[in-house]
Amino acid sequence: MTRPTRRTRPSDRGRRGNLPSRPARPRGGIRTEFERLTGEIRACRLCPLGSTRSHAVVYRGALAPRVVFVGEAPGVEEDRTGVPFVGRSGRVLDATIVRLGLSAREFGVLNVLKCRPPHNRFDRASARTCRPYLERQLALLRPRVLVPLGANALKTLDPAAPPILRCAGTPRGRPGAPQLFPLVHPAASLRSRLLRERWQKDVELLAAWLGSGVV
Ligand code: URA
Repeated sequence: MTRPTRRTRPSDRGRRGNLPSRPARPRGGIRTEFERLTGEIRACRLCPLGSTRSHAVVYRGALAPRVVFVGEAPGVEEDRTGVPFVGRSGRVLDATIVRLGLSAREFGVLNVLKCRPPHNRFDRASARTCRPYLERQLALLRPRVLVPLGANALKTLDPAAPPILRCAGTPRGRPGAPQLFPLVHPAASLRSRLLRERWQKDVELLAAWLGSGVV
């Protein structure tokens, strides 16, 4: 796989804030484009995480999903397997996806950072470097709804958003862009009873919102 160079580096369109929503589809077909992008990400060494990871963690899910769940960064299990959300948080997320009634064709899961940061500490500098990959993934997938999981994913997708505990459980409409429905991070729901209850309550709100047919 070719290594990204300055010339092949993803564009920095997204520096201006909210991510673009529905650019034109590429001529080569989504699958081919997505596979090409996946190869680029797997070969990426643009930031220091590229040399500490075992696997880049790119995506799991459908190629034309209605809903994309956006985590912050791979953890140990994801780094080992190369698949997003397969550890404890992943089990919470998968149970939620079942609760939401989303079929395999309706959802996707990815992260802001494609490589595990040491000590699982979200790395903002690497996230800036990685951001164009996220933009390109979303431009190809074109979901109607993005569900940022936790504060770092929310701030990446919507830098002007209030703190996560203030806006989790409420849709954030953005004209001409995928709607956001933030949730606290599933890992937080495993750490405290209060956050587990918040997670459960917000998931019910998300289920009702998705079921209402507005998106
Ligand atoms: N937490 C995340 O944010 N992403 C994963 O893939 C796993 C845990």
